[in-house]
Amino acid sequence: MTTFNRRYHITTFGCQMNKADSERMAGILEDMGFEWSEDPNQADLVLYNTCTIRDNAEQKVYSYLGRQAKRKHEHPELTLVVAGCVAQQEGESLLRRVPELDLVMGPQHANRLQDLLEQVFAGNQIVATEPIHIVEDITKPRRDSTVTAWVNVIYGCNERCTYCVVPNVRGVEQSRTPEAIRAEMVELGRQGFKEVTLLGQNIDAYGRDLPGTTPEGRHLHTLTDLLYDVHDVPGIERLRFATSHPRYFTERLIRACAELPKVCEHFHIPFQSGDNEVLKQMSRGYTQEKYRRIIDTIRRYMPDASISADAIVGFPGETEAQFENTLKLVDDIGFDHLNTAAYSPRPGTPAAVWENQLSEEVKSDRLQRLNHLVAIKASERSQRYLGRTEEVLVEDQNPKDPAQVMGRTRGNRLTFFPGNIAELKGKLVQVKITEIRAFSLTGEVVVRQPVTI
Ligand code: SAH
Ligand code: SF4
Ligand code: F3S
Repeated sequence: MTTFNRRYHITTFGCQMNKADSERMAGILEDMGFEWSEDPNQADLVLYNTCTIRDNAEQKVYSYLGRQAKRKHEHPELTLVVAGCVAQQEGESLLRRVPELDLVMGPQHANRLQDLLEQVFAGNQIVATEPIHIVEDITKPRRDSTVTAWVNVIYGCNERCTYCVVPNVRGVEQSRTPEAIRAEMVELGRQGFKEVTLLGQNIDAYGRDLPGTTPEGRHLHTLTDLLYDVHDVPGIERLRFATSHPRYFTERLIRACAELPKVCEHFHIPFQSGDNEVLKQMSRGYTQEKYRRIIDTIRRYMPDASISADAIVGFPGETEAQFENTLKLVDDIGFDHLNTAAYSPRPGTPAAVWENQLSEEVKSDRLQRLNHLVAIKASERSQRYLGRTEEVLVEDQNPKDPAQVMGRTRGNRLTFFPGNIAELKGKLVQVKITEIRAFSLTGEVVVRQPVTI
């Protein structure tokens, strides 16, 4: 007898935290007997895991949601869920806006999905947005990749950057114990995963909320200690971490990265602005000089390290001269990659109500000028790869060319080369780079010649 399974669909917006949460929620749904449906219109349960970092991210959710709400009128058995940061921010008011919703759940509740859905199936409409202690998940995430995996190490953020909604929607910092993190990684290694990215909105805060201090008064568990702790997990060949905060980035951490062979030479350290007055208005807690010193120190220990970051243009009150300081920083540092955004006023954040907001024209003009410079600098940074041999971890087939596979260098450059995915998936391959573009590379496998002696 074949049983008919209910089908689910998840669309994920926003950052890696959300992607990791979606993988765990998918795992829970599969445990409950649901099957994945690529097409939301064929699914019995549709879950939007949402982002509210900028207004356009939020608006996208409403347009997707509108379509499913309509479908529910013809298919009343459809279960509609909004999870993530818009859910947390809007809470009950989302129900007023979209009464067809069955469940509105904040990010801290991701691991409780089964429990919440059972209440929905009992006939309730549920809003779960109260702050809670995040429970360790016991379900297995349904991971998108079989080669690389995300592992949360700290949830939430205790910073108060004046433009940012994250602390409002993700709550206070909660670190997982080193034991729980290691156990998850051991399991990943056993299943054949090769690369782990440790995740936190402010990963440098890892361990501050865990008990214990050293005799010198330092927290017992820091990100640096964690890297040493998990470095020997069998099977895991590469380690990355994100996102770093310049305020807390230490030389001790840089030294550990240089010392530990599995930690990749790639650092994602958002600077947001290259102007000290703007940084102060943003409450970032560092100067552009300090930021430059961090990059210098990284390059002193690891001359080839790749550096990426996030930046905001058009923060309230930003003058042309202040914006030019951002251009100058980008020009001087030479980022391998930079995520750029025009400032978007977010409800519940201090800067949103300031009177010195800039016009959309000024913001989009600055964004274009910055993006132009970023592409030029990224191309320059790619130059150094030409003719070099790089270690690439093969993740997948090139979707545009089945004769090629793709993966990433240790510096996180996407790299394509001819090869058979069935043979190469999950392998570390030496690839000679023959072609470069601003944000990706092409190469060929280096065949080792036997040496006769
Ligand atoms: N925790 C990270 C960033 C998290 S949000 C950090 O501290 O850097 C991801 C990025 O979104 C930020 O780095 C910032 O560049 C951008 N961002 C956040 N709020 C924004 C806003 N209101 N308008 C435009 N961009 C924003
Ligand atoms: Fe937002 Fe600042 Fe926290 Fe990053 S550190 S998540 S920008 S408040
Ligand atoms: Fe967006 Fe929430 Fe991440 S607002 S950027 S999904 S923490």
